[in-house]
Amino acid sequence: MKIEPLPGVGAEITGVDLRRLSGGEFAAIRQVYADHGVIFFRDQNLSEEDHIAFAERWAPININRFFAAHPDHPEIALVAKDKEQKDNIGGGWHTDHSYDLEPAMGSILVARELPESGGDTMFASMYRAYNALDDATKAEIDGLSAVHSAHHIFGSGKSTYYSTTDAGGNRIGNASAADVLTDVTHPVVITHPLSGKKALYVNPAFTVKIVGKTEEQSKDLLARLYAHAMKKDFAYRFQWRPGSVAFWDNRSTWHWALNDYQGQRRIMHRITVEGCALH
Ligand code: SIN
Repeated sequence: MKIEPLPGVGAEITGVDLRRLSGGEFAAIRQVYADHGVIFFRDQNLSEEDHIAFAERWAPININRFFAAHPDHPEIALVAKDKEQKDNIGGGWHTDHSYDLEPAMGSILVARELPESGGDTMFASMYRAYNALDDATKAEIDGLSAVHSAHHIFGSGKSTYYSTTDAGGNRIGNASAADVLTDVTHPVVITHPLSGKKALYVNPAFTVKIVGKTEEQSKDLLARLYAHAMKKDFAYRFQWRPGSVAFWDNRSTWHWALNDYQGQRRIMHRITVEGCALH
């Protein structure tokens, strides 16, 4: 097994077959995942059953409440964009599930049908973003919490993301499940449950407010943190190929599915695994 750290964030792991990992290989991969935040594999040949079996080695599977499911495997959420669709799923910097009390650990994405060109995914390291903050900002955010919500993205209002774009259609639904979700708070800086390292834990999609700040102060602080976290130094652009697999950690990374392949189809299979409360 060979591990190649990538510029910005993540590591590529070669020389393994995800269908038959020994206990030792699995433990080593788990450490790379904890340290680097996102891991990439090439030339894998995972059936849906293999994908599910690999996910189950990490944690129980979280059945997605909003994404359309694979017709035969409810564990697999479809991240799909058809030729005639303009908007895509995940087309902006975000981290999944921060609107949950115990945000999911991460997602394992398998490429099933790729456009001829485009459709890369960007990843960003929130370990690096945190570490590179100046001391004054670190002191400013120390001990703060932020509110995270799914209402404005998955909810049923007229101005939610999926009701104002064509990214949803029959691919995203169950808005009533988002409507009844209670907003949650998480620390702005978390200690990562696997690595023990500090990470910035706010994201442009689901974080709606800093607790104890006015609307304006909150917007200003979040805008500063986002402008910092979006710096190229902390990011890596992953180009998918048939057989590629990415597994990202929601607690230490952001991701963004680029939408630059109009008129072509892109189908990805995503399995999300459960996480824990964040401190
Ligand atoms: C997602 O946000 O889960 C989708 C990522 C991708 O399609 O590349």
